[in-house]
Amino acid sequence: MQVAEKKRKLPHLVTALPGPKAKEIVQRDHDVVSPSYTRDYPLVAKTGRGAVVEDVDGNTFLDFAAGIAVVATGHCHPQVVAAIQKQAAELIHMSCTDFYYEGMVELAEKLAAIAPGKSAKRVYFGNSGAEAVEAAMKLARYHTKRDKFIAFHGCFHGRTFGALSLTASKAVQRKHFGSLLAGVFHAPYPNTYRGAYGVRPENASADALAYIENELFKRLCDPSDVAAIFIEPVQGEGGYLPAPAEFLQGLERLCRKHGILLVADEVQSGMGRTGKWWAVDHAGIEPDIICTAKGIASGMPLCAVIAKADVMDWKPGAHASTFGGNPVCIAASLATIAVLEETAIANCAAMGEFISRQTAGWRERHKSVGDIRGKGLMIGIEFVRDQKTKEKAPGIRDHVIESAYKKGLLLLGAGENSLRLAPPLVIDEEQADFAVRTIDECISEAERSL
Ligand SMILES: Cc1ncc(COP(=O)(O)O)c(C=O)c1O
Repeated sequence: MQVAEKKRKLPHLVTALPGPKAKEIVQRDHDVVSPSYTRDYPLVAKTGRGAVVEDVDGNTFLDFAAGIAVVATGHCHPQVVAAIQKQAAELIHMSCTDFYYEGMVELAEKLAAIAPGKSAKRVYFGNSGAEAVEAAMKLARYHTKRDKFIAFHGCFHGRTFGALSLTASKAVQRKHFGSLLAGVFHAPYPNTYRGAYGVRPENASADALAYIENELFKRLCDPSDVAAIFIEPVQGEGGYLPAPAEFLQGLERLCRKHGILLVADEVQSGMGRTGKWWAVDHAGIEPDIICTAKGIASGMPLCAVIAKADVMDWKPGAHASTFGGNPVCIAASLATIAVLEETAIANCAAMGEFISRQTAGWRERHKSVGDIRGKGLMIGIEFVRDQKTKEKAPGIRDHVIESAYKKGLLLLGAGENSLRLAPPLVIDEEQADFAVRTIDECISEAERSL
């Protein structure tokens, strides 16, 4: 391989980190940008191509965070860039609230075609994951004329008031924000590493389902009042933790039995990230509503709520957004879907298997690795002080993230003590191998120093 090509695919650091320009921009940022953002390390990005990001000082990094699992086709994929440029020169905005345009119809047709199950579908467009969740909450109430919701411990559904009422991820996300939406109940997530109640991991699915039927429905809320159950089929912010297929199938049965809508929040897990279009495809279920965003348009702000056509029965005026389904975002999404369909989803599944083979012996070699899990390129690594007691080790996780950055690998945490691997779906084996070897080294360093 040519040296120049290698340089473009793998990290190449030319300054100490952060470099001088990055330092200066971070300082300016601290003075003027909202302090509510959580930045783990001082990367100041300038350009991106594929899975490589270059910072303002000319350092290049391998990006295993992908803008929080967003740039599905990589940074600035040529097909996506061309689609954006073409559309921007033709029509930037029109508002689907008032007028029609063909791109929106084409994207709705495409999303309806790739959505799970055989039922006809309708699609609502907005701008962000939280907006998709808000729309799904409103649609569920509108359709069922019921007002209660069930969500799960550890799940993250967004930060607007409705979505935040479902979110049960970190207390800091709720602190000082007062009362949230009434009538939201939380149930244990089927955690197959720790168990639904922190015990009996082998019974996680049965225990989590039993809680809803035997506790929640008997003591707190009659099922006939429940509009919808919201579930992340793979918990994202909570730790990259997949729900078992048997749990999702059981949840679908439970919803059908009680006339409750099943909403899959696939904002993070959808659009091919798990090696199939949707994480629920691994369980063969058909949710009534799917929320998707992040990877849908490779970085342009767009979300979609895909619902069974008979569920999306709200009338004109019930819900809309000025910018939702903007033509440029839609063009980016159509180009993204073409790339996903042609190569990227199959590549994602293959790279996921490659990483899982390369990390197979880690629990034996690293005493701090408690669990490695996931599907496709949605992989979580959970760190513990002791593999037997499973005491959480957030310090090791943080150390790994920090030292990977110093070696040119961009990573993000998830949950209290897990690392997430969420690269663009277009990485190749050399990049996957580099990331695995770097993380391996960083874990050894963290174990020695902490
Ligand atoms: C599963 C899930 N739902 C909703 C959201 C909220 O999306 P956004 O940040 O675009 O509002 C996120 C964001 O991380 C998410 O992971």
